[in-house]
Amino acid sequence: MPAIIIIGLQWGDEGKGKIVDFISENADLAVRYQGGANAGHTVVLNGKTYRFHHLPVAALRGKHVCLASGMVIDPVKLLEELGLLNKEGIRPKLTIDGKAHIVLDVHKMLDEAEESSGKGVGTTRRGIGPAYTYKAARVGIRFSDLAEIESVKPRLKKAVDMTRALLSDVYNMDVELNVEHVSQFLYDVASKLGKYVGDVSLLVNETLDRGGVVILEGAQGTLLDIDHGTYPFVTSSNTTAGAACNSVGIGPKRVDEVIGVTKAYTTRVGKGPFPTEMEEPIASMVREKGKEYGTTTGRPRRVGWFDAVAVKYSIMLNGATSVAVTKVDCLSGIDPVKVCLAYEFNGQELENFPSSLHVLEKCKPVYVELEGWRDLSEKEKIEALKGNFDVLPKQLRNYIEFLEELLARPIKYVSIGAERHETIVR
Ligand code: IMP
Ligand code: MG
Repeated sequence: MPAIIIIGLQWGDEGKGKIVDFISENADLAVRYQGGANAGHTVVLNGKTYRFHHLPVAALRGKHVCLASGMVIDPVKLLEELGLLNKEGIRPKLTIDGKAHIVLDVHKMLDEAEESSGKGVGTTRRGIGPAYTYKAARVGIRFSDLAEIESVKPRLKKAVDMTRALLSDVYNMDVELNVEHVSQFLYDVASKLGKYVGDVSLLVNETLDRGGVVILEGAQGTLLDIDHGTYPFVTSSNTTAGAACNSVGIGPKRVDEVIGVTKAYTTRVGKGPFPTEMEEPIASMVREKGKEYGTTTGRPRRVGWFDAVAVKYSIMLNGATSVAVTKVDCLSGIDPVKVCLAYEFNGQELENFPSSLHVLEKCKPVYVELEGWRDLSEKEKIEALKGNFDVLPKQLRNYIEFLEELLARPIKYVSIGAERHETIVR
């Protein structure tokens, strides 16, 4: 199975980091293909927590890791992340695609200004939206430009002028911005990261030609996709599996498997409609049990029941071939457990995720209630991790089998704890 895409089926934070880490043991290459430092992918190994914002989590296994052209990369954050890994004695081979864009201070200032105005969608303030805006406006700076900083100065000047005007006209902020400062920053980035710049597309295609295994690691989630998500409460990139091909530069026929990751419940950070959002005190119980606080921003996540309407929509958009369900352990002790089967809108029952936000905002979930399960004993965990699914509480098995039938995809992985090994392969 040479090219495998792993994507989130909800609003991000599905536990992709954990699943990607689990399956990347045999990878020859691991690639992140969109977004930037807004992502927070967590891996727990022997009690130690590793958080990745840019690097594919396979870096932890010492794999050759790549940042593809569809990304917007914050050099400061990337260097921090590399530094943290170096301290652990891990020095992964890294290739940054020359076509990937650089997140500059001007992007972060604009993101910050928008969020501070109180009118933002609740972004991570990592400059993601403005970096993609400038890319589309053709005033972005790419990693390949680091070799020719003088020749991109006119473009840089335009980006700086645009930022000054926006800050002043839209946000009433007069900020000193200087092209020389930005180009000095780029010279510094060139000296530190220039050696990693290469051609990820070529690398991935050549690896696949040789029969190698390439893991394409998505960030955020399908419902945050700029086209198919809950616009405008979305991120600024395409998060779906199709985008992986485009961002990396491979043909769609090269992809063999698309693994969709979903939590056993739902979370979202930031503003936007969320039909299955839980009531208190259950929301707080699940939030605490699942440690549902943003990896990147520390914000408490909004918590909800499993939404099959949304997840089925995501499975369709991505052509997911199998599903991984995470954080099943974090629902234990809650009884009953609800699953949303359809939405009620204006007295009608909707089975498909609406494309209009105006409709989604008015949708009420139609739930089925299932029996909850208790905490797993250590003995049950050990047996289950050996592949003996039948030792788990009947209610938990029912839940997984119920979801499997509902989603019409094999649930191949069930995660019952944060540690790498706490993953059941079915
Ligand atoms: P941005 O991506 O920082 O522009 O934020 C846009 C929206 O996407 C906000 O609601 C964020 O909370 C959300 N978001 C961005 N990245 C992630 C992520 O990795 N996990 C969950 N939500 C995210
Ligand atoms: Mg996350």
